[in-house]
Amino acid sequence: SIEAVGAREILDSRGNPTVEVEVALDDGTIGRAAAPSGASTGQFEAVELRDGGSWYGGKGVEKAVLGVLDDINPALVGFDADEQRLVDQALVDLDGTPNKAKLGANAILGVSLAVAKAAAESADLPLFRYVGGPNAHLLPVPMMNILNGGAHADTDVDIQEFMIAPIGAPTFRDAMQQGAQVYHALKSVLKEKGLATGLGDEGGFAPNLPSNREALDLIAQAVESTGLELGTDIAFAIDVAASEFAADGAYVFEGASKSAEEMTEYYAGLVNDYPIVSIEDPLDEEDWAGWTTITGELGDKVQIVGDDLFVTNVDRLRRGIDDGAANALLVKVNQIGSLSETLDSVDLAHRNGFRCMMSHRSGETEDTTIADLAVATGCGQIKSGAPARSERVAKYNQLLRIEELLDDAARYAGRGAFPRLRT
Ligand code: PGA
Ligand code: ZN
Repeated sequence: SIEAVGAREILDSRGNPTVEVEVALDDGTIGRAAAPSGASTGQFEAVELRDGGSWYGGKGVEKAVLGVLDDINPALVGFDADEQRLVDQALVDLDGTPNKAKLGANAILGVSLAVAKAAAESADLPLFRYVGGPNAHLLPVPMMNILNGGAHADTDVDIQEFMIAPIGAPTFRDAMQQGAQVYHALKSVLKEKGLATGLGDEGGFAPNLPSNREALDLIAQAVESTGLELGTDIAFAIDVAASEFAADGAYVFEGASKSAEEMTEYYAGLVNDYPIVSIEDPLDEEDWAGWTTITGELGDKVQIVGDDLFVTNVDRLRRGIDDGAANALLVKVNQIGSLSETLDSVDLAHRNGFRCMMSHRSGETEDTTIADLAVATGCGQIKSGAPARSERVAKYNQLLRIEELLDDAARYAGRGAFPRLRT
């Protein structure tokens, strides 16, 4: 059972503070987890507790840490660590707000994940096996974000993430090798053209480009230069993060004001011209009708993924399922703030034929929990940025370890992760 819950302030990959939690059990095992942090956060996400004042420019998390020590610790002592749902329910009740505003989703998530890690350790099981059970064996397609725009780069590129998906690789290990190959090839292509090769927040290159199509063209060139086949070996995915440039029902895109219909037409053109298998947040987080329309028009060709739209929240996801708004769920543990609620969202999605993509945040730490959760849920897709920068690569490296551990039982999701593939 839980003996003590501790917390401290550590730094994330952007140099901002975040919460790290340690949970000690009476058998001597310890679980440790850290909360990630977004930049293009959805307005309906569970909220992070930040101190204000001058420490770290107001972004300190001392209040969240004190909440763990003074409120959460006494409430959880004595709980069985393997009663995850009871623990998470106790955390939700203790907070008492609908969006975890009192104790902070950063504090609550850290505790929730640290409890699971302690319980796994105590049971002498890898986290993916403890959470996923005996059948967890599917390695996800790494959706590698190799060109960063939007809120993750200081450039004029509107689309936030340009990802490559090695759908044709036989194993996860091969998928990583192919992704890294394309990543390095893209650097060469950018250099040849005299474009900047500095990195954005998620480890992708962040050149300034005249258009969003130019980004896709450069990546296509990079893929072709490696000898890998576009569409067969490597597919594309984008995260538009459209809420970031939406205002009053219009979208300020490539310097012009566009309607949801015009944006949808634009995406249809992209889907026609490039091997795109997944489009995330193509429209604003409040434009439910627009989402239903675009899913009706493009949903049989590509995955339409709700991130800011759903914020890993079962109530918002239920509406999406009813409305036919999107056909896939982006899964971010800190959007909802506990492991049990995250698993509830994945379950609801899967039971209704929605695909799931496990996801990091643009502000990350060395914590690799989401890699294990991707395998535990068998979701078949994970995005953890570029194959560069250790806070991104840490998750991919953990998946390499899991694949090795699973040995002959491991299966790589590959093309099967995208049933709507046209080719
Ligand atoms: P964020 O971006 O972590 O900055 O919110 C990731 C995403 O939009 O998927
Ligand atoms: Zn997103």
